[in-house]
Amino acid sequence: MQIEEIEMKDLNPQRFVEEKIAEITSLAGSGLAVNALSGGVDSSTVTMLGHRALGERLKTYFIDHGLMREGEPQRIVSLFQDLGVPVELIDSRTEFFGALKGVTDPEKKREAITQAFYKDVFSRLVKESGATHLLQGTNYTDIEETVAGVKRQHNILEQLGIDTEEEYGYKLMEPLIQLRKTAVREVAKALGLPEEIHNRPPFPGPALAARIIGEVTQERVSLVKKATKVIEEELHNTPAFQYMGILHEDKVTGVRNGKRDYGFQIEVRCWDSQDAVTGSPTRLPYEVLEKLAERITTEVPGVVSVTYNITKKPPSTIEAV
Ligand code: XMP
Repeated sequence: MQIEEIEMKDLNPQRFVEEKIAEITSLAGSGLAVNALSGGVDSSTVTMLGHRALGERLKTYFIDHGLMREGEPQRIVSLFQDLGVPVELIDSRTEFFGALKGVTDPEKKREAITQAFYKDVFSRLVKESGATHLLQGTNYTDIEETVAGVKRQHNILEQLGIDTEEEYGYKLMEPLIQLRKTAVREVAKALGLPEEIHNRPPFPGPALAARIIGEVTQERVSLVKKATKVIEEELHNTPAFQYMGILHEDKVTGVRNGKRDYGFQIEVRCWDSQDAVTGSPTRLPYEVLEKLAERITTEVPGVVSVTYNITKKPPSTIEAV
């Protein structure tokens, strides 16, 4: 791996911001750049860097693939609008659900999302806008995990030998590639992004698709969305690194109103971690776990079983897919 990490002890966030603004300005030349904002700390940070560097020559899109959390697309677009950064919401649900239809293998699912994102949606947006560059928030850990063969992170292209200019018609700019998440948070702060953004728990690029075992359909996403809402409401006061709900493929026998109910299983994960490279399950109080089980089985239709994962990473990974 030729990319060298900038460690926290060597990071001067203000200087980093100035250097990256200059770099983006020079790389883009007189061209136009586009980027996709998801509201995560990485994409928010590059959006702000790009906005500072290029102003109106950066076109920012929020790609609504239908895999985000409840109300998230609208909330993020309006938050950035309030910060003076215009963001266009693109409804791409048909493309993504089409690409995911019938796909159950985890790596194939990730590959389908990558292709829908970069080849279908972005190639079209780039063509329509006349952009020459795609600005994206790939970070050091994404590269490391993909190159090590842990998981194909959705945004890794060049390290897998994909020439974006040849394949998709645009060049990549990746200003955060030397930073891990904690360092990106410092840069986000230096850029004046609000706490809600710079302190936002990580959320995967493939979004809720990373939390669905088996086929990703609108119906199954809707179940995970409801479970996620409950889990986030119940756990947002914990100091955990990340927490999530996972929908299993297998159904199990349950009982409701005295009758057999063959229903869904939701697995809860809640992680203590520094950088997502390793992690251990948070020792949640039993009362919290019970409340989760109670709420999920009442508020998510058809769920008859809730489990808590007690495995460390490794051998587990943070997300299930
Ligand atoms: P894993 O599941 O690999 O996750 O242990 C490590 C961290 O990365 C997030 N994650 C992703 N982030 N694109 C991303 O931008 C992805 O494809 C992706 N997969 C996992 C995950 O939420 C965790 O914080």
